[in-house]
Amino acid sequence: MTLQSRAKECASYIKKHSSALVVSHIDADGLTSAAIMGKALERAGIEYEIRFVKQLEQKVLTEVADRNPELVIFTDLGSGMLDSISSLKLNAVISDHHQPQGAYGYEYHLNPHLFAINGATEISGSGTTYFMASEMGDNVDLACLAIVGAVGDLQHVKHGQLIGANRSILDEGVKSGVLHYENDLMLFGKQTRPVFKLLQYSSDPYLPGITGSEDASIEFLKRVGIRQHGEKWRRWIDLEPGEKQQIVSALIQFCLTCGVPGYRAQRLVGEVYTLLCEREGTETRDASEYSTLLNATARYDHADIGLAVCMGDRAGYFEEACALLNEHRRNLVEGLNLVKEQGLTQMEHLQYFDAGDKIRETIVGIVAGMCTSFVNNRDLPIIAFADSDGGVKVSSRGNYDLTRKGLNLGEAISQAARAVGGTGGGHDIAAGAFIPSGSKDEFIRVLDHIVGSQIKTGI
Ligand code: C5P
Ligand code: C5P
Ligand code: ZN
Repeated sequence: MTLQSRAKECASYIKKHSSALVVSHIDADGLTSAAIMGKALERAGIEYEIRFVKQLEQKVLTEVADRNPELVIFTDLGSGMLDSISSLKLNAVISDHHQPQGAYGYEYHLNPHLFAINGATEISGSGTTYFMASEMGDNVDLACLAIVGAVGDLQHVKHGQLIGANRSILDEGVKSGVLHYENDLMLFGKQTRPVFKLLQYSSDPYLPGITGSEDASIEFLKRVGIRQHGEKWRRWIDLEPGEKQQIVSALIQFCLTCGVPGYRAQRLVGEVYTLLCEREGTETRDASEYSTLLNATARYDHADIGLAVCMGDRAGYFEEACALLNEHRRNLVEGLNLVKEQGLTQMEHLQYFDAGDKIRETIVGIVAGMCTSFVNNRDLPIIAFADSDGGVKVSSRGNYDLTRKGLNLGEAISQAARAVGGTGGGHDIAAGAFIPSGSKDEFIRVLDHIVGSQIKTGI
């Protein structure tokens, strides 16, 4: 059995039904997964409804079952709740890439971990869903959304490019003329922002003295010889190839002189993915900007707006999404500043910060991921807490040096959450949980112990 043949089985099972309820996750990968499935169902003549959830908890599952749907399709979630899903006796299909927990033998469960494929780097929820969609009909145009989802989950970061199953989706998209890839600067905003903003907001790598300062960013570009056009700074896509090359070389040189480690400086350049059907100079043209636009909707209770954008329904929704994007950017900058001011508390095997009610629980994980660029100790994973309705949201981020030594945050967080009466899971490199109020101290103590044992014994 391969991922592909399982996808085929799931697809033919789906096509036996006349209506479906799609339940998906509120991030870029979840949105694109739902949109891919929505389009595939529409084209197959199957009625559908989409619902987004922050986390697939028991309460949500009970609500879903109470509606007595003909078929439920879980996308970008579900693998962490296999026992609960099978006990509901629903007609269900799961298309997910999180580490499975529970009944492994579930029939219509498409997950890379079941086929020895890495779910953090080789395929995302939108990728598994694309595999299903491909078996449901001619849906090759949806490869674009699959790549946006993978990039939204940072699956291209480890190798500086998409690999494995993601790569085959990319190749299909390129062959059919909807996608293009090339090596370019990895800083955010190449399609839409004046070029100095790319430096000013650079967080990976952090550019000492430049990140955070508009003046220093402009000064740097002037020194490199990049000119403004009249009053206006051009966008990255407006620069000549020679100018781009000059900036990249100067940035790498700058990083190395400042003592930024070589491997981080190298992350300035990597593969970038362009959606050829989208208009140049818009957020949706670049996979990374597109995924951020989607996060800016779904993580702020506006998944409907992000979904409409993905489904190609742009009138009005696109502007609304862009307004949310501005708010999202402001929140990320504020969140990062908060962590910088407040600092992190170090334990033996991890470091953590508690954002309380200052950072929204739905973006605290993104902040935890971004702050790896300025924390002093890269040898410890970062754990973040944020207040949540009736409990505490936990987010965690590691790095690939640590996973190589045995760190598996998905396992560790899930075990520690269970020990204090919560639930959690995710990937080796990034995981999250929801735990009861008042259990933070106990949770972090247990987690510190588990992480310590993983890294020592290399489990
Ligand atoms: O829920 P889901 O699987 O879609 O999210 C994956 C998470 O893992 C994303 O929030 C992404 O930012 C994080 N990640 C990371 N570093 C990586 C790979 C993934 O922080 N190198
Ligand atoms: O919420 P955050 O971005 O920190 O999530 C990191 C990873 O952990 C994501 O892949 C998310 O889907 C997963 N997660 C989970 N169970 C939770 C919370 C997060 O599997 N309760
Ligand atoms: Zn995902």
